Amino acid sequence: MRNWAKCALAVYLSVQARKATGTPQFPIGLSLAPVPEFAENYCPQFAPLYPKTHHDIDEVLEDVYGTEDFLLEVVNAMQAVVRIPTESYDDFGPVGEDPRWQSFVTFHAELERLFPLVHRKLRATKVNKHAPVFHWQGTDDTLLPVLLTGHIDVVPVEPATLDLWEHPPYSGYYDGTWLWGRGSCDDKPDVVSLLRVSTISLQGFTPRRSFVFAFGIDEESAGYAGAYHISQYLEETYGRNGFAAILDEGLTYGTRYGGDVIFATPCTAEKGYFDLRIEISTLGGHSSVPPRHTAIGMLASVITLLEAHPHETVLSREGTAFQELQCAASYGPEVPDVIRRLVKAAVDDDKALEQLQTAFLEWQPAAAAEISTTQAVDIVFGGVKVNALPEKVTAIVNHRIAEHSSVRELQERTAKILKPVAERYNLTLDAFGKNMTTGGSGRLALSDAFGTALEPSPVTPTGHSPPYVLLAGTIVEAMRKKFGAGGPKVVVQPTLALGNTDTKRYWNLTRHIFRYSHISADALYNGAHTINEAIKPTAVVEKIGFHTKFILNWDEADI
Ligand SMILES: *[C@@H]1O[C@H](CO)[C@@H](O)[C@H](O)[C@H]1NC(C)=O
Ligand SMILES: *[C@@H]1O[C@H](CO)[C@@H](O)[C@H](O)[C@H]1NC(C)=O
Ligand SMILES: *[C@@H]1O[C@H](CO)[C@@H](O)[C@H](O)[C@H]1NC(C)=O
Ligand SMILES: [Zn+2]
Repeated sequence: MRNWAKCALAVYLSVQARKATGTPQFPIGLSLAPVPEFAENYCPQFAPLYPKTHHDIDEVLEDVYGTEDFLLEVVNAMQAVVRIPTESYDDFGPVGEDPRWQSFVTFHAELERLFPLVHRKLRATKVNKHAPVFHWQGTDDTLLPVLLTGHIDVVPVEPATLDLWEHPPYSGYYDGTWLWGRGSCDDKPDVVSLLRVSTISLQGFTPRRSFVFAFGIDEESAGYAGAYHISQYLEETYGRNGFAAILDEGLTYGTRYGGDVIFATPCTAEKGYFDLRIEISTLGGHSSVPPRHTAIGMLASVITLLEAHPHETVLSREGTAFQELQCAASYGPEVPDVIRRLVKAAVDDDKALEQLQTAFLEWQPAAAAEISTTQAVDIVFGGVKVNALPEKVTAIVNHRIAEHSSVRELQERTAKILKPVAERYNLTLDAFGKNMTTGGSGRLALSDAFGTALEPSPVTPTGHSPPYVLLAGTIVEAMRKKFGAGGPKVVVQPTLALGNTDTKRYWNLTRHIFRYSHISADALYNGAHTINEAIKPTAVVEKIGFHTKFILNWDEADI
């Protein structure tokens, strides 16, 4: 997942939530009781969904997956894939030219060695040379195929951090509990799991519905070489909206609101994205006769002005954050009473909705990122010489655009905020190709820094929408099998992703996109994108069980 921060954020939020509530203000037994009618209507939960015609296959596989031999097989496969450093670079050259793509060739050879049957039974294609797509043919062409995705690439290991790793990042070292290495969490388990699941054709399973597996190769950078080309290929091959649903990597599950209630959080929407380049050009000259403000001083004013105008937080009834809150209020053990009460009232009371927003941000200040566009001034450069006036200075501001906003709204707002500063310094303001002011002292230009503007994603239908119900039912069933009768309550909660996965390229393939990793949060040692990435291989086994049920359930569904 690009910017796994969301995952860290979820953990952070739950910690903050626990801090904020401290000792619960009410006996847990009471606070735990959901308001049944409200929960049914606003955060519906579903019965476990298990394969029926494929019941025997499912049972046999559960036994297989429960063996020590199977765990060792998974350890072996995970070690093999983690040992290949399929690093992703922001400055990747084109496939076929940049030699750094070579590790992907090695990776494919390894996949063929590990999963020979898959390569014989499924139709394997490589899109843009290195991005593998596997087609598993079903017998009934009237059913839309389901697409399951993940990615092969990993974020590079920062050389300066090498000696902070407990075991080298490409060792795949297994200590009996943890399997270490870059990619062990993000996202090689999906690759191993999906390819392993497709070998269930050995059990005599011929799918009725077709399934397609596709793996990105630069999810951690632009997603252009991989997901973009994959999406073009899939749209040409299967047509627009040619899939019943997509399941991609996403958030893990865990006790998000304290207590022992497990929240599984498929992301049903993603924020948008915009990198703003601010460039100020002025006349140079000797710094012994400087103007009152150099370009650097002007840029400082621009940045100050932007930071003085944080984006508005908007908790909207239509937004995904409100859905998340409805589930939190219905089932979260350590959710403050005031939130529970306001969430319920806010359904049709505007005043309560406003109060809820305030209470929400008091309870979880970091949640502002969920209900507003965020801005972060991340890069600044300018000036070359101590006795020369700077002629061109630049800042780049990263934005994650709120569900309720758009790229255009963000651009218009930015231009409006910066117009006075352009006037004050007598600068021509070129806002995204349009002159807003004319001045003789220089130019202030605003643009899309890398051409990566992205609107907030379409929102996946939830509630009683059949693909959502199928996913939720499968999650609940997988947990029921894991914990047995008397296990913890499991709540499926639609969630907003603050970052983007490869699915940002897949909007034309289906309306039903889910970003969800069926992995327990505590099966990851230190999260992804940092030192000591490590996973419990038992969690990969669990994921294989989940993917198996998901595929068998989809195969039996007439959606
Ligand atoms: C904006 O102004 C600059 C200089 O003031 C001029 O060169 C440029 O052509 C103008 N651009 C547009 C789109 O009007
Ligand atoms: C803006 O700059 C031009 C060119 O240097 C100058 O002629 C003009 O007087 C300036 N205007 C103001 C308001 O400073
Ligand atoms: C979806 O299709 C439209 C029209 O062909 C295209 O402009 C757009 O870029 C596509 N969206 C994605 C995410 O590929
Ligand atoms: Zn990832």
